[in-house]
Amino acid sequence: MYREAKKYLADSSVDDIDLTVLFIIQHVFSSSYVELVSHDVSVDCDQERQVFSLLEACKLGHPLAYVLGLAGFNGREYAIQPGVLIPRPETEGLVASARAVIGAIYSNNLVVFECGLGSGVVSLELAYIFSDVTFIGWDISSDAVDTSRINMQRMGVSNLMIEHGDFFSLSQAHDALSSCRVLVSNPPYVSLADYAHLDDHVRQEPMAALVAPDNGLAIIFQLIDFAIQHGVILICEIGSDQRALILEAYSQARLFFSKDLSGHDRYLFYFPNCDLVSQKLIDELGIF
Ligand SMILES: C[S@@+](CC[C@H](N)C(=O)[O-])C[C@H]1O[C@@H](n2cnc3c(N)ncnc32)[C@H](O)[C@@H]1O
Repeated sequence: MYREAKKYLADSSVDDIDLTVLFIIQHVFSSSYVELVSHDVSVDCDQERQVFSLLEACKLGHPLAYVLGLAGFNGREYAIQPGVLIPRPETEGLVASARAVIGAIYSNNLVVFECGLGSGVVSLELAYIFSDVTFIGWDISSDAVDTSRINMQRMGVSNLMIEHGDFFSLSQAHDALSSCRVLVSNPPYVSLADYAHLDDHVRQEPMAALVAPDNGLAIIFQLIDFAIQHGVILICEIGSDQRALILEAYSQARLFFSKDLSGHDRYLFYFPNCDLVSQKLIDELGIF
């Protein structure tokens, strides 16, 4: 079946045929590749039909995560559906950075806000680790809110409050605002010009999760303004070419940056006071 499946995709535009076939077969048989090759597995018509209908969806250009309804993030599987951004590997670095910052200022009455939950991966990963910290996340998309709720249930996390609506209107009036010390976000940061050049399968993801006005900087600027106004720490993912533009607009603010695993400027930090930035934290975050 593996060979037949690969042949089926041979003339398609699917990026990595071997991996796509592997993931689909593992998914349909609910077994790992190692288990499948080390035992004799009989294939019934239903399973064969299922494998080929998933392959067909990939052949038509649908992203594999939408086809399977699952995306991998930080070594865990998350439910995903069309209408919700597929979590990216760079965002695992945002979680690692937020984990270091929250760990450094940890107290059990800490409140952490997230702007733009998407599938919930960022807040859920953090809420799982810091089980007595309160997390509150917002998303303007009802698909994202639904998916976050599904993932919250799958993980058995109870310290995340999921809110539907615009972060910048709703969080200002939230009872927990005065206790919020950290704001984390992977906001939409792609410019309209860059969006036009994205791969077709990326453009199947919701545009509102990817694109922001003002060269992709509008929401990042709103997040920095929010953090300065309310005196909260901001940890935010940014586009690899946006650091200089952000520094130009906020020359007076205490902003730091760090790189992702590919060496691109990717994470922005704002600390309301210097005492929060210990040498240990600087080393741990790799900020400059
Ligand atoms: C780049 S996605 C990030 C999703 C998820 N946190 C992740 O990293 O995979 C940005 C998310 O922000 C949401 N969003 C955009 N503007 C928002 C706003 N003003 N308030 C709340 N959510 C917003 C979008 O709907 C989208 O789900």
